[in-house]
Amino acid sequence: MFVPLHDGSRVLVRPIAAEDAPLLRRFHQRLSPETVRDRFLSAKPRLSSSDVRYLTDVDQHGHVALVAVDPERPERLLAVARWVRDPAHPEAAEAAFVVADHLQGLGLGSALAIALADRAVEEGVTSLSGSMLAGNVASEGLFRRMGGEVEVLRDGVTNEVLTSLPAHTGRLALLAHNRRMRPGRRTPVAPVVPVRLVA
Ligand SMILES: CC(C)(COP(=O)(O)OP(=O)(O)OC[C@H]1O[C@@H](n2cnc3c(N)ncnc32)[C@H](O)[C@@H]1OP(=O)(O)O)[C@@H](O)C(=O)NCCC(=O)NCCS
Repeated sequence: MFVPLHDGSRVLVRPIAAEDAPLLRRFHQRLSPETVRDRFLSAKPRLSSSDVRYLTDVDQHGHVALVAVDPERPERLLAVARWVRDPAHPEAAEAAFVVADHLQGLGLGSALAIALADRAVEEGVTSLSGSMLAGNVASEGLFRRMGGEVEVLRDGVTNEVLTSLPAHTGRLALLAHNRRMRPGRRTPVAPVVPVRLVA
């Protein structure tokens, strides 16, 4: 599906495929060390072959992964988002996102969050969690976008964020249709849903 960003550009959001392995490797190499650290919670200069296989060769049921590409340059990944089902609690899954540095703050992460939430509802997943470094407010914002109220468990260095999903799907199509441009906005707005601290 094509999704507009706040600067007026458009990206194509589609499921990842095993053939995206070299594209993912190149995407990772272009990320800044800060973005890589925020995504993997540690330095990770290179993805190993098994990392790449794990991240691209997914079944799209227990492990759902989506990419955004520039429609004019489809060989260039712009963002990757995924959730992986908890085998012990199949209605729960852990989500993770990464957006290319030059596109952060333009609404791509939010669009992917909605796309992931749609897929989660379609697959019977009712809650999504995520691990992030403390202070990663952009990432917390994505979990608010996916669900409603957000629970945050803080342990000092990392936060665990959990949100329940609404029962309906089709939200990405609505977003793609209704989104308004907010040119140049790269600063956060106040959260619309209160954060409940549980620890
Ligand atoms: C987290 C990340 C995926 C968000 O993607 P994005 O495309 O920048 O997100 P959006 O533009 O849709 O913004 C999402 C929210 O974060 C806020 N935000 C965006 N950039 C921000 C920044 N630099 N500082 C504070 N808030 C920010 C937005 O205002 C928005 O808040 P809202 O939902 O209340 O409007 C992206 O910043 C990223 O790849 N970061 C590095 C990897 C990472 O942190 N992954 C998450 C680990 S699970």
